[in-house]
Amino acid sequence: MNKDIEKGPIAIIGAGGHATIVASTLLAAGHDVDGFYDDNPTARGIKILGIPVKGPINTLSRDNCAGAILGIGANETRKRLANELSLNWITVVHPFSYVDPSAKLGRGTIVCAGSIVQASATIGSHVIINTKASVDHHAYVGDFSHIAVAHLAGGASLEEGGFLGLHSTVLPGVNVGAWTTVGAGAVVTTDISANITVIGTPARPVKRRSC
Ligand SMILES: CC(C)(COP(=O)(O)OP(=O)(O)OC[C@H]1O[C@@H](n2cnc3c(N)ncnc32)[C@H](O)[C@@H]1OP(=O)(O)O)[C@@H](O)C(=O)NCCC(=O)NCCS
Repeated sequence: MNKDIEKGPIAIIGAGGHATIVASTLLAAGHDVDGFYDDNPTARGIKILGIPVKGPINTLSRDNCAGAILGIGANETRKRLANELSLNWITVVHPFSYVDPSAKLGRGTIVCAGSIVQASATIGSHVIINTKASVDHHAYVGDFSHIAVAHLAGGASLEEGGFLGLHSTVLPGVNVGAWTTVGAGAVVTTDISANITVIGTPARPVKRRSC
């Protein structure tokens, strides 16, 4: 982490449910929070955890804050905003979590309370390692991915923009393709291709009913 940008207030992009977790994680990690920035007019004037929503995203600049982080759960939106905005993206790790010193965390990534990132794991940028998730040894998590209360076993991989739903598991060495969604409770036993949604044990693509 860049020690200079830790010294000043951090701006949070977004003002919804995930932004609340980002704020509480920043505070628990000892940061000051500048405020929330969100384009949704209904968020104007409200406070979250006593911290104000200051205005739309275009009112935020590098001069307002020492660093920023995306408080938005949607992976595609985090990718778009990370590409559009030129800010000092910070990485935040909840003090009640464990990140092995040999693991790598990219910029803009959050590790939430109760999570474990094991030795030699590699986590990309703007990733959400959500509450009580685990990423085991030598596992790989691509940029803009989101691991809910889920488990990525040793040597497994989740490519860019992937999403692991609540209580899902990816078995050792198995690869989940880019922008694929793994449904809540699924167990992924073999490699899964990109851009699909899988559910169940063993995980299989969702069958859509035709009407
Ligand atoms: C898998 C998921 C993305 C599918 O959402 P969807 O595309 O809107 O699919 P639908 O809700 O239309 O469901 C399609 C079918 O799959 C079933 N289904 C949905 N999710 C399922 C799951 N996790 N496990 C088993 N079956 C599931 C539905 O019952 C439905 O079956 P039916 O056609 O027999 O009625 C979603 O249900 C899910 O599991 N999301 C994860 C949420 C989560 O973990 N959030 C974390 C927040 S931090």
